[in-house]
Amino acid sequence: MIYLTRRETFNAAHRLYNNHWSEEENEVTFGKCANKNWHGHNYVLFVTVKGIPDPEIGFIVNVKDLSRIIKEVIVDKLDHTNLNLDVDFIPKTIHPTTENLVKIIWEQLLPHIKGCQLHSIKLQETENIYAEYFGE
Ligand code: NI
Repeated sequence: MIYLTRRETFNAAHRLYNNHWSEEENEVTFGKCANKNWHGHNYVLFVTVKGIPDPEIGFIVNVKDLSRIIKEVIVDKLDHTNLNLDVDFIPKTIHPTTENLVKIIWEQLLPHIKGCQLHSIKLQETENIYAEYFGE
């Protein structure tokens, strides 16, 4: 089995907070991500697929097609948005953390991946932190 990863980037705003808590309590839990006037992240998204390379072309999947799908299904819908408010497939009831976003991105992409298998979604929120999801 061979694994192939495509990297894409987008910028988006969010705020992590619990309505039932005071501003102080939110800041203790969510840190700067609780900022009441929002803030942005430069997200880096890694989509990994797996499969057996086609013997005639050596590809698991045409990476141009994969890139187009990721752009159409995810990047174009998230880039320059407010993740709390703007995106129809992000429920208003969840916190738009990196952990929750990887699962949502997986669910959105999965039906569009043809001819190979989706292996993982990795989303990097800052240089120092990322979340990964493998479908379970
Ligand atoms: Ni944040």
